[in-house]
Amino acid sequence: MSLKQTAIDTLSKNDRGRFTIPTEGLYPYQWNWDSAFIALGLATYDMERAWAEIISLIEGQWPDGMIPSIIFRSDDTDYFPGPSRWGNTLGSTPSTGVSQPPVLATIVRQITEGPQGAARRAEVFDQIFAWHKWFHEARTVDGIVATVHPWETGRDNCPEWNIGLDLMQVAPDLPPYTRMDNKHVDPSFRPTQEQYDKYLTIVHFGDSIGWDQRRLTDEGPFLMADPNIHFVLLRADKDLLAMATEMGKPADIRDQISAWIAKGEAATDYLWSDDLGAFVARDIRSGAFSTGFSNCSALCFYADSGTHMQRARTIENLKRIAGKVEHLLPSWDPDADGFEAQRYWCGPLWPQMNYMTARGLDEQGEAELAMQVRNGLCDAIEKSGFWECFNPLTGAGCVGSNFSWTAAIWLSWQHETKLEGVA
Ligand code: GLC
Repeated sequence: MSLKQTAIDTLSKNDRGRFTIPTEGLYPYQWNWDSAFIALGLATYDMERAWAEIISLIEGQWPDGMIPSIIFRSDDTDYFPGPSRWGNTLGSTPSTGVSQPPVLATIVRQITEGPQGAARRAEVFDQIFAWHKWFHEARTVDGIVATVHPWETGRDNCPEWNIGLDLMQVAPDLPPYTRMDNKHVDPSFRPTQEQYDKYLTIVHFGDSIGWDQRRLTDEGPFLMADPNIHFVLLRADKDLLAMATEMGKPADIRDQISAWIAKGEAATDYLWSDDLGAFVARDIRSGAFSTGFSNCSALCFYADSGTHMQRARTIENLKRIAGKVEHLLPSWDPDADGFEAQRYWCGPLWPQMNYMTARGLDEQGEAELAMQVRNGLCDAIEKSGFWECFNPLTGAGCVGSNFSWTAAIWLSWQHETKLEGVA
C-alpha cells in the first residue's frame, strides 16, 4: 500500500465523526493544535471533513475567548489527567484549563484560500480573533505573551522548562493520582515523576482559583515565555490581518490586530539569547534564559521576525545541529545538557515543528535548509511509519504510532509537491 493511502487510513482510523484523536490509547480526545494540523491534511482530499474538524475545535472555546488544549467529550478512564482532575473549567464542554500554540488562523487562511473560501473564513473569523485577543490580554505580562504550563506550549517536557519548574514547589496538598501515559508507552520515553507532580500542581492551582486566567497568569506557580507560542501567534496575527483586510473588516479590528503584531515584533528580542545565538524560552519572573537551541528556535523565519544578525546566527546553529543528527530537527540541542534522543521533547524530532520550520525557511529564501528539514521528517516516515515523533539519530519512531498529525503533514507535503510539479 502507498504511504499516501496509509496516511489517509491513519486519519480514518482516528476519526471520531467531527473530530480526530491524535492516536488510540494514549490520546483519546480532541487536541487543539493537532486538530489544526489534521485539518491541513484532511483538506487535501476532503474539505468538508477538514472544515468539521475546525468547527468542532472552535466549539470548545471558552466565554473568555480561550480555546483549550484538550476538549473532553467523554470521560475515558484510560487517560489521566481527564476532566475530573481539571475540575470546573469554563467552556460548555469539559476541557483543560490551558491553551496550545494558536496555529489555527494560519491553517484556516491556507485551506480556504481564494474567493470560494470566503464564506468559511467569515464563519470563524470572530472566534479566532477572540482567541488571539485572549492571548494578548489574559496571557500577556509587560508586553510579553506568557505561558503558565509546559503543556500549553505543546512541548511538554522540553528541558527549556526546567528553569521555571526548578523555581516551583510541588503543592503539599496535591491529591494522589495514577499516571496512565506510562501504561500505554515505554516510561523511558515519557516525562519523569517529579515533572509530572509539578504539572499537576499547576492544574491544582488553576482549579483552586476557578480557572480565572488573569490570576493564573499573574499568580500561578509557573510563568515563562515560549518562542513556540510567540512565533506561532505572531505568524497567526499576520495571517489574521491578511484575512481581515481581504474581508473588508472595519478599521478598529484591523488596527487592533496591527497593534498585536507591533507588540509581537517588539517582544521577539526578549527571547534572544546572545550567548547561544538563538531564540530560547525565558523565565519571566527571574529573567533567566533557557540553555539550548530547540526545534522552535528557527520559527523566527515562519513568523518573518528577527534581525538579519539573529537569522544568520540561527542558521549557523541549524547547520551545527545538522552535523550532529541523521534527521533534522531535534527538539533539543544535542550539545546541551538534558539531550535524550528518545525521550519525548528532550531530543526527538516532531512532525509539526519540522513542518512549520521548513515552511518559514522556504518563505524566507532558505530553500536548501528548508528541504533538509523536510527530508529529515520524510526520511524518518519512510523508514518507520507515521509515529508521534522520531529519534533524530536513527529515524526510529517514538511514543505513539498511527499518529494523526504525522499522516496529515505527509499528505499536505505530497499535495504541495504535486501542485508545484516536483517529482
Ligand atoms: C503531547 C504533545 C502535544 C500534543 C499532544 C497530542 O502532549 O506534547 O504537543 O498536542 O501530545 O498529540
